[in-house]
Amino acid sequence: MDPLSSIPVLVVGGAGYIGSHTCKALKKKGYLPIIYDNLQNGHRWAASHGELIVGDLMDAKHLNKTIQTYQPKAVLHFASSIDCRKSIQDPASYYQNNVVGSLILLQALQKNNLKKLVFSSTAAVYGEAQDTPLKESDPCVPVNVYGHTKRMVEQMIQDFENAYGMRSVILRYFNAAGADPEGELGEAHHPETHLIPIALNTALGRQSHLEVFGDGSALRDYIHVMDLADAHVKAVDWLLEEKESMIFNLGTGKGHTLTEVVSLVEKVSGKPVKCIFHPKNPHEPVSLVADASLAKKTLQWKPAFSDLETIISTAYQWHLKGQL
Ligand SMILES: NC(=O)c1ccc[n+]([C@@H]2O[C@H](COP(=O)([O-])OP(=O)(O)OC[C@H]3O[C@@H](n4cnc5c(N)ncnc54)[C@H](O)[C@@H]3O)[C@@H](O)[C@H]2O)c1
Repeated sequence: MDPLSSIPVLVVGGAGYIGSHTCKALKKKGYLPIIYDNLQNGHRWAASHGELIVGDLMDAKHLNKTIQTYQPKAVLHFASSIDCRKSIQDPASYYQNNVVGSLILLQALQKNNLKKLVFSSTAAVYGEAQDTPLKESDPCVPVNVYGHTKRMVEQMIQDFENAYGMRSVILRYFNAAGADPEGELGEAHHPETHLIPIALNTALGRQSHLEVFGDGSALRDYIHVMDLADAHVKAVDWLLEEKESMIFNLGTGKGHTLTEVVSLVEKVSGKPVKCIFHPKNPHEPVSLVADASLAKKTLQWKPAFSDLETIISTAYQWHLKGQL
């Protein structure tokens, strides 16, 4: 694809885990990702599928200048602080980065008459599920600060739609996992808080054990990062076709316990994973499993990599390459 004929899209937080895989998919589809990231948790090597602008969401002037220079046709907003547990200990920084940062972005979009936004939301907006699998219309009662911040941003986006005509696709991902099967990109959070990379690092002897909160029976719905990336491309296409605002769950509809995940990590790696158990954390729901039928039907989205073995095998291949 000739980059000159590509459609520019602004990818805020595009040097992070999900954003980098999405940039690769966007570029393949003919978009030109303009990656705006402060590199606090992202990586220069991960920003190889677009043009990297190192900048912070709090810097409204720089953000405006970037939008005016590149004239993106749509925006994908991945930038946030992502650790549920840390959000309880340090709510101020979570409200600042996730809520204030998103408000600054929305104001920049409004100022530049840019009205197409794809937002990275989360299953954490639901809180403890009353019914499973979770539908988009189910009540949103977050049980941690991270979930509150994401729900507040969803509300702000809807208010910007009512008042200023913003169009959005809000994607509520369940548990993102796995890595680019071509081995170029993968998860590299410092510190890592997600189960699969921690279990793999334990199997690979890079850490002594895995801390488990609860008895290992909590259910999570793991969705491969490649399938998330594909859903983002479809969401951008959707908005550029001038279609209406939507909220979609992105998951498989299948829950896996921590015990199942650990057993499969042991099988794939051929190494044991030592677990140390602690009491259940009340800020972590017992079950988060998606009903993603709306995204499948509406966006023609078909997860292709999200069986647990493919997720863990691609992540294992990535982690074998060493710490980045
Ligand atoms: N990883 C998951 O399982 C998961 C699940 C549900 C939702 N999400 C959401 O998806 C998004 C991406 O998650 P991820 O795992 O790729 O996280 P990540 O930390 O790898 O990526 C986030 C990126 O945003 C950048 N960033 C953060 N604050 C910024 C700021 N103020 N200005 C500029 N850049 C900033 C970071 O440097 C990083 O590159 C997040 O919004 C997260 O809440 C993730």
